[in-house]
Amino acid sequence: MCGIVGYIGYREAYPIVIKGLKRLEYRGYDSAGVMLFDGENLKVSKTKGKVSDLEERASKEITTNGSIGIGHTRWATHGVPNDVNSHPHISNSGDLAIVHNGIIENYAPLKAELIKRGYIFHSDTDTEVLINLIEEVQKKDNLKLGKAVQVALNQVVGAYAIAVFDKKTPNEIVAARLGSPLAIGVGEGEFFIASDASPFIEYTSNAIYLEDGEMANIRLHKQMKVRKIKDDSLVNPTIQELQMNLEQIEKGGYDHFMLKEIYEQPSVIKDTYRGRLHANEGLIQMAGVEDNLEKFLNAERIIIVACGTSWHAGLVAEYIFEEFARIPVEVEYASEFRYRNPIINSKDIVIAISQSGETADTMAAIKLAKESGAFVFGVCNVVGSSISRETHAGAYTHAGPEIGVASTKAFTTQITVLTMIALRLAKAKGTLSNSLFHTYLQELVIIPEKVKEALETNDRAKEIAAVFKDAPNCLYLGRGYNFPVALEGALKLKEISYIHAEGYPAAEMKHGPIALIDEHMPVVVIAPKQGHYDKIVSNIQEIKSRSGKIIAVVTKGDTQVRELADYVIEIPETSDALSPLITTIPLQLLSYHIAVMRGCNVDQPRNLAKSVTVE
Ligand code: M6R
Repeated sequence: MCGIVGYIGYREAYPIVIKGLKRLEYRGYDSAGVMLFDGENLKVSKTKGKVSDLEERASKEITTNGSIGIGHTRWATHGVPNDVNSHPHISNSGDLAIVHNGIIENYAPLKAELIKRGYIFHSDTDTEVLINLIEEVQKKDNLKLGKAVQVALNQVVGAYAIAVFDKKTPNEIVAARLGSPLAIGVGEGEFFIASDASPFIEYTSNAIYLEDGEMANIRLHKQMKVRKIKDDSLVNPTIQELQMNLEQIEKGGYDHFMLKEIYEQPSVIKDTYRGRLHANEGLIQMAGVEDNLEKFLNAERIIIVACGTSWHAGLVAEYIFEEFARIPVEVEYASEFRYRNPIINSKDIVIAISQSGETADTMAAIKLAKESGAFVFGVCNVVGSSISRETHAGAYTHAGPEIGVASTKAFTTQITVLTMIALRLAKAKGTLSNSLFHTYLQELVIIPEKVKEALETNDRAKEIAAVFKDAPNCLYLGRGYNFPVALEGALKLKEISYIHAEGYPAAEMKHGPIALIDEHMPVVVIAPKQGHYDKIVSNIQEIKSRSGKIIAVVTKGDTQVRELADYVIEIPETSDALSPLITTIPLQLLSYHIAVMRGCNVDQPRNLAKSVTVE
């Protein structure tokens, strides 16, 4: 939540900061701001709205072409989205400026103390408290910026990624992180600071990812110093070569990132299993699993912790692990798990699933699991993310940057990784017959082709979207492996089109939701041939006899459901266990088209942000 950008070097800072903010807008987009230094004064422009609104405003307000700047795109936590609460925030003296991603939890007592000392606050934000705290510390002991930031950060409780500028030392930006990501791009005579590397990939491929609890003094023409905030010890940071390229973070001719990412699924699923799945040899090799095979084999239980779409992937994995590897699985909302007193044993394996690798609730669940002695395995997409570092071992999904706020390719690649793990364990445990094991491997290899075929339902999904775009509610039903897909389909529709939608196990419908069904209620039923087909046909009949409008996702050639349903979308045949990788595709497309037809901002739905780094 919130994206921060900074530049210090020889180029004009403003265009770099603005472009960087646009790339980070997926992290929050309710307000935005920039601070440039003109050699004498801080020039600040900020506004409620998107980066494009900021650009319009800044074109009138920012006159300098200075080569130092910081910027921010916000997802509000403290204080409503408005101009005043937007970042950057400036200290009372007017000397210091800050951009901040995170939350200062103890801001209230700090603010009260600063008010006693004469500080005046203009915004409702915790960030304005932090910059004035830094100023107070600096003044009191006559400290340089870096030291003042360090002392102040040792007084705060919470999470942060910050960039701080002091006009008294104009060749320097101080950056620090705890619980929120921060990358520093290292160029020739220039540095970039950003929440992820996307703002600077065309300028440098060298990046340092600060670790939690580290800060960096970034000075022009001097060596960057990285130290631990707590004890001041110097750290030798690793410079990593970036894997990201521009093409991955651009729309590439698609109208929206979400659509591009839906269409990327055949190729990213291949990337996910490439080098790991050797169908002809009958092998699955994943380093994180091989290195810890004994632990997996001795596990008495697997607990999956995740949020949102990743939680839905966890539910699919529950079915797969239990079916293939016969290991009991529990799937937990990370946010609930962390706040009860869960029973975790040292023989439990906790699998944390997260696209961003930064989700605060999932992070907290991991910490709790580690404290209880469990082995924690991460399934993340973002390389080097906090969760991937915090877990004992893990497997990346290799989906590439997912920029649309609604997760699509993250879901299918997470299921791919989890399926491979389950198959590997099944082989080692002998819980799946050899022939079935080989059949699944062969089938996984051709899944990308089937996903490609499923993408051909786009026009059909668009036609159906036109019929239902004005529906106020929608039900999604599925059974077995496709119950989590029903939940995921409903989440997609809710989050991007703002239509109220619920996912249910199809058989649960008769225990309550059936009361909602009348001739106005669209009901999306996932009814592939494999699985509990006859049962779901009965459920469809129940809907039909109450005049519900049935949109069925069926296997190509299906005749039985076709007779009952109002609309059908045909997908290629797969085994029951792998079907979520296919059935989810038309549901993604359906939500996408409905949202577009309703004029919604598909990539940046209201109130949401891509990575949820607050509780
Ligand atoms: O980055 P994560 O996978 O940990 O994110 C979890 C959820 O915040 C995320 O899946 C969210 O529900 C998406 N908006 C769903 O499309």
